[in-house]
Amino acid sequence: MARIIFRTIEELTNWSNNLDAEINFVPTMGNLHKGHEKLIEAANNQKNGYTLVSIFVNPLQFDCKEDLKNYPKTTDDDQSIAFQSGADAIFIPKAKDLFPANYLQYHTIKASVELNSTLCGLNRVGHFDGVCTVVYRLLKLVNPKYLFLGEKDWQQLLIVRNMIKEMKLDIKIKSISTLRDHDGVPLSSRNSLLKKSERAKLIFFSKKLKEAKEIFEKGKSLDLNKLIKQIELKDIKIEYLKVVDAFSLKEKITSEKISMLAGAIKCGHTRLIDHVFLMKNKPIIAIDGPAGSGKSTVTKLIARKLKLLYLDTGAMYRAVSWYLIKNDINYSSKDDLSKGLKNISIIFKSDTDDNQAVLINDIDVTKAIRAQEINSLVSKIASIDEVRAFLVNEQRKLGKKGGLVAEGRDIGTTVFPDAALKIYLTASINERAKRRKLELEHNGYDNLDFSIIREQIKQRDHNDMNRTNSPLKKAKDAISIESDGLSVQEIVEKIVDIYNDKIPKDIQN
Ligand code: PAF
Repeated sequence: MARIIFRTIEELTNWSNNLDAEINFVPTMGNLHKGHEKLIEAANNQKNGYTLVSIFVNPLQFDCKEDLKNYPKTTDDDQSIAFQSGADAIFIPKAKDLFPANYLQYHTIKASVELNSTLCGLNRVGHFDGVCTVVYRLLKLVNPKYLFLGEKDWQQLLIVRNMIKEMKLDIKIKSISTLRDHDGVPLSSRNSLLKKSERAKLIFFSKKLKEAKEIFEKGKSLDLNKLIKQIELKDIKIEYLKVVDAFSLKEKITSEKISMLAGAIKCGHTRLIDHVFLMKNKPIIAIDGPAGSGKSTVTKLIARKLKLLYLDTGAMYRAVSWYLIKNDINYSSKDDLSKGLKNISIIFKSDTDDNQAVLINDIDVTKAIRAQEINSLVSKIASIDEVRAFLVNEQRKLGKKGGLVAEGRDIGTTVFPDAALKIYLTASINERAKRRKLELEHNGYDNLDFSIIREQIKQRDHNDMNRTNSPLKKAKDAISIESDGLSVQEIVEKIVDIYNDKIPKDIQN
């Protein structure tokens, strides 16, 4: 396709109305740098679709006339950078076309009050309303499938995501991590306005944020006042420096959830922002749900896709059940059971194809634990308090450092209540029985009676949901996914999308 530049709305719509695929949209204010290149490349890497980049220095988001006047404008260079990075088309509208007479009177979009009343929103009055207004206008004109934004402007990202939800636009946001220069400074168009001495101040500021992050990750607490003093000693004017929850942006922090140390400083006349995410351990995804909801298959694929460890807690309960049966341990006797549990060690081993074997006391039981004999016993054994306490403890040990996806029935409620993402995956009984039958057939079992499998699943649901010790239920903060009619791939994509929305890229790796 020829590379095209549109300067009017008519040219843009003539083009977009005749496309045979969807649009991946990268809005910019020009002065493109490596961060924008990354965004355009990410848009271009989508399987289908055309990449459209807009260049428009939006006057509505400048709270200071001087700042708007000084904003670097490099349109010719921008065009070649955008095309070289993979743009199919560039839209360079004029203000009078985007905001014709009376438009703003009726179409000014207000940013979420909660998200806007902190950090940059407090000091830059009207800034995020201006961003929402222009982004909304552009989205209505472009009607893209995906909108690409950088995580450098994290507050903007949250506000635009909220606006898309509130306005019920069918557009997904894809974000990329903050890109930094060799000296640790986040890439920004405004950096080109800095004198050498001003840049040195920004370098110091970013370095201090990075150090604070490292201190926090070591389990030490963060002394914000000390940090502010250290920065101010370098004659740096701090507009704000706060630790906030990474999603609500409120100053109420729990140690396990993701928080953010964010600040804005003035270097000369230029205002600059930077942030780091604070999280002690790497994120955990908890996937809970009833038998046959597809948890294992989906979790395995998610682990592979996101390069996370895969913790199959169901397999652990099955392995313990297998062990108790094979060793004739009377699990109704507390004594026999606790003696038996003392001798158990369960490990997971991955081969080069990422297939995971379950070993109990060095015996590979991967296949054996899927037998019908275990199916009918596992929920009974899993409801024994001692077995649960033993395995919850083992699971927490395995999840100590985070960076894993765990599936089971009480992961989000009991094992990892602070998991960064909780999914409750379910499906109708018929669908689940169908899947279980296929799985058993795949493992070599035949002549299976569908209604018996269905009854077993019903019974299992009843046992799981009614046991006194951590029964199966959706955690309050879990996201439900009803998987009837969805392919495994579709469920995986849904969860990966939610993960990408919820977990900043900076702490994914
Ligand atoms: O992030 C930016 O460059 C701008 O705020 C945006 C999203 C292009 C709106 O003008």
